[in-house]
Amino acid sequence: MDSIAASSAQRGALCSLLCLCLFSAGLLLGSRPFFPTPRLWEHFSRAQQQRLARTAPPPAPPHVAAAVAAAAYHDHDVQAPAPDAGYGELGREEEDDEEMALGAAPAPAPAWEDGGGEGRECDLLDGSWVHDPAAYPLYQAAECPFLSDQVTCRRNGRPDAGYEQWRWQPRGCGSARFRGAEVLEQLRNRRLVFVGDSLNRNMWESLACIIYTALPDRSRTRIEDVSSEYRIFRAMDYNCSVEFFWSPFLVKLETKQDQTKALKLDQLPTMIKQVVGADVIIFNTGHWWTHTGKLRAWDHLERNGVHVEMEGEEAFNRALRTWARWVDHNIDPTRTKVFFRSISPEHKSANWCYNQTTPITNGTIIPWFPKGMISIVQRNIQSMKTPATYLNITHLSELRIDAHPSVYTTNRDGKPLSTEQRQQPITYSDCSHWCLPGLPDTWNVILLVSLTRHGSNVH
Ligand SMILES: *[C@@H]1O[C@H](CO)[C@@H](O)[C@H](O)[C@H]1NC(C)=O
Ligand SMILES: *[C@@H]1O[C@H](CO)[C@@H](O)[C@H](O)[C@H]1NC(C)=O
Ligand SMILES: *[C@@H]1O[C@H](CO)[C@@H](O)[C@H](O)[C@H]1NC(C)=O
Ligand SMILES: *[C@@H]1O[C@H](CO)[C@@H](O)[C@H](O)[C@H]1NC(C)=O
Repeated sequence: MDSIAASSAQRGALCSLLCLCLFSAGLLLGSRPFFPTPRLWEHFSRAQQQRLARTAPPPAPPHVAAAVAAAAYHDHDVQAPAPDAGYGELGREEEDDEEMALGAAPAPAPAWEDGGGEGRECDLLDGSWVHDPAAYPLYQAAECPFLSDQVTCRRNGRPDAGYEQWRWQPRGCGSARFRGAEVLEQLRNRRLVFVGDSLNRNMWESLACIIYTALPDRSRTRIEDVSSEYRIFRAMDYNCSVEFFWSPFLVKLETKQDQTKALKLDQLPTMIKQVVGADVIIFNTGHWWTHTGKLRAWDHLERNGVHVEMEGEEAFNRALRTWARWVDHNIDPTRTKVFFRSISPEHKSANWCYNQTTPITNGTIIPWFPKGMISIVQRNIQSMKTPATYLNITHLSELRIDAHPSVYTTNRDGKPLSTEQRQQPITYSDCSHWCLPGLPDTWNVILLVSLTRHGSNVH
């Protein structure tokens, strides 16, 4: 099906992008803390350790016992996990469990199994959402101290929890099982870097939580704020890091001496050098290019150090070409696997996320992102020498009208919305980002699975 049509894009553009832009502008101007401070993180870690030292571990919540992820898709029935392999046992943080978890681990990296004999190819990105409260969510927000207030919807008062309990079922792929211990083994000695906008940060937070909550000893972790644009989660016992580098255009946005902002279509930010050598890099860009008027982040475009004028799509194309060439010249494909995550859909104007509690099941999707920009991405990826995997999560995410924070988010000061603000959803709803736990967890499951596939061809 054709998931992206230009039709509604113009119509809804301004109104539909407002929320993301306001938030993004806040980030850009530093008007709110980009991340919680490391001190906050340490505080959480300490508090957690004290709690664990004092009290016996609480009984594992039901979702945990039935277990999640090892990103393996098996035969078509949902399989009950073996009792010793459950994510819940891992989550208890007891020494026996650690041994058990590590003992259970050396299984080969989880693989997606093809179609269960139905003669159909397993396409990870085509399928449907299945309500599966036994398997999802993969973790509880309360277990993950560094989840930002912006996306912890239930902590912000969201009354329904069903949106956390949907499992993506790709057609012809069997059913998914997710096992934290296997994911940890898969990521041992690995460095994964997300580069992009706040939607990639959403995905970074999700993966960091998936790893953190699977760890036998959660105290052996650290968050490092290298700069306001670069944050690292480390799991020391696994020599694994998951990093986020904020670069919403991929190309460089430069603040001039006179405080005007130039978007340099022929350069990547200097900091990008730091991602070279990573095992996996997941790029994204998109939303920021569609901002217009006052919400546009740049004052002018630049090439070769001089101002240039061009249409948005042409600028976008040039920027992606710059990015693609940079990857071709700097990334060693025998060492690094490159992904580009497709556009994360918004649910505004006609199909508004406010008050929605179930996914779209009848196929009525109103696409909003300019189709031309999507083909620009696809064309540039195809033209690269370096094999880059296009993580095409747009369609499966379009169905998740229920999965945005809506009014259960934060305001521009980073505080959860007040009751009065929640009663003004037109002004305050966030229908761009996603609640966590929630949809980005599935993006990561798909990422982890595609990492294990040889000759991966995720389209
Ligand atoms: C730790 O992981 C990095 C990759 O992120 C790897 O280069 C390094 O060799 C690993 N260290 C050990 C001791 O295995
Ligand atoms: C949203 O849900 C609340 C609570 O169920 C209800 O009071 C309100 O009328 C709903 N608003 C809209 C616009 O549907
Ligand atoms: C699909 O469901 C939505 C919301 O329940 C409804 O507004 C719409 O008319 C339905 N479309 C079709 C084709 O059934
Ligand atoms: C991405 O998915 C959409 C919807 O499923 C599809 O229309 C599009 O062709 C896909 N793109 C690529 C490059 O496969």
